[in-house]
Amino acid sequence: MKLTLLSFFFIIIISFFHFSHTTPQNFTSIFSFGDSLADTGNFLLSGALTFPSISQLPYGMTYFHHPTGRCSDGRLVVDFIAESQGLPLLQPYLAPNQNFRQGANFAVAGATAMNPAALIEMGISRYIWTNFSLTTQLQWFDKLKPSLCKTTQECSEYFKKSLFLVGEIGGNDYNYAFFSGKSAAEVTSLVPRVVSAIAETIEGLIERGAVNLVVPGNLPVGCSTAYLTLFATAEKEEYDGRNGCLKKLNAFARYHNEFLRMAMGELRRKHPNARIIYADYYGAAMRFAHAPRHFGFGMGALQTCCGGGGPYNFNVTARCGHPGSHACNDPSSYVSWDGIHLTEAAYHHIAAGLLKGSFTDLPLMT
Ligand SMILES: *[C@@H]1O[C@H](CO)[C@@H](O)[C@H](O)[C@H]1NC(C)=O
Ligand SMILES: *[C@@H]1O[C@H](CO)[C@@H](O)[C@H](O)[C@H]1NC(C)=O
Repeated sequence: MKLTLLSFFFIIIISFFHFSHTTPQNFTSIFSFGDSLADTGNFLLSGALTFPSISQLPYGMTYFHHPTGRCSDGRLVVDFIAESQGLPLLQPYLAPNQNFRQGANFAVAGATAMNPAALIEMGISRYIWTNFSLTTQLQWFDKLKPSLCKTTQECSEYFKKSLFLVGEIGGNDYNYAFFSGKSAAEVTSLVPRVVSAIAETIEGLIERGAVNLVVPGNLPVGCSTAYLTLFATAEKEEYDGRNGCLKKLNAFARYHNEFLRMAMGELRRKHPNARIIYADYYGAAMRFAHAPRHFGFGMGALQTCCGGGGPYNFNVTARCGHPGSHACNDPSSYVSWDGIHLTEAAYHHIAAGLLKGSFTDLPLMT
């Protein structure tokens, strides 16, 4: 009798732990579109001619211990989201012989939201890393789709349980323009075109059956150590006294984000059955600039882990992976990995801010 009671309690305790430890499996697959913030290997598989250093350590040094094509020392936001759903890390679409039933990653480092031809027309071509823009990524999705589901009914059931990550994307359209010497006004005039390219992709995915979509905004580029180095100025009032970031560039990122949110509002009205979720990468990352040590970033928010000297350890002629650069021993005490991309530690905090925090405008988990 005593034993039975004891076993009864054990069963209760075991089932309690079982339930509390089971990952809630909201989504059964994830499809990701975007650029280097989400690319898990497509750019590297496509040749990476314009950025060969990602094929070598120290890229990948922290988690994978070898380069994977991720522009970081370890996992990205999309990896942490996949883990939270109990799903495998997303394979890049260009990887041969994969089963993509649990999702695929179409994001490509260097990708633009706009078609490269339109950027080239504006005289922005020298810096374009890749032609695999959002349009190409959506075409890849169409090529893959017949292997995921067949009938309309089957696809609708399948995609209802899928999470679509659209972005971050658009950052490169602006990077290329800024780095080509375009004026702030010229770059600002790109915003409506970049946002409509993103909106067209969101709508295209909804028409193909997507229901759950997460659309991240731009990061605070004024806190990026590449921008802080390239746009360094003696004018003190250009810097935000609270965090040392460049005010105008952060205002530009916020402007893009507001435009994007307006476009998303229209899409929500047009497609009331879709859950179109805004992910506030800007706000999630600004926490690092305001209180870096609270997140374990002992080096502050404005130092690069892997770089080649200079006030922010970002040196354009000795970028991460190039001769003259070296990686820090402890990337988790840095926000910035290579001056443009963030460390795994920073991406982990951003992902937690989306999954458990308040950095989405609708809850990510239904
Ligand atoms: C992209 O396409 C243009 C025009 O076809 C070509 O000139 C350019 O080299 C391509 N860029 C890359 C990185 O493949
Ligand atoms: C940047 O890198 C170049 C090449 O390695 C080097 O000559 C130069 O001193 C570096 N600049 C700074 C500020 O460390």
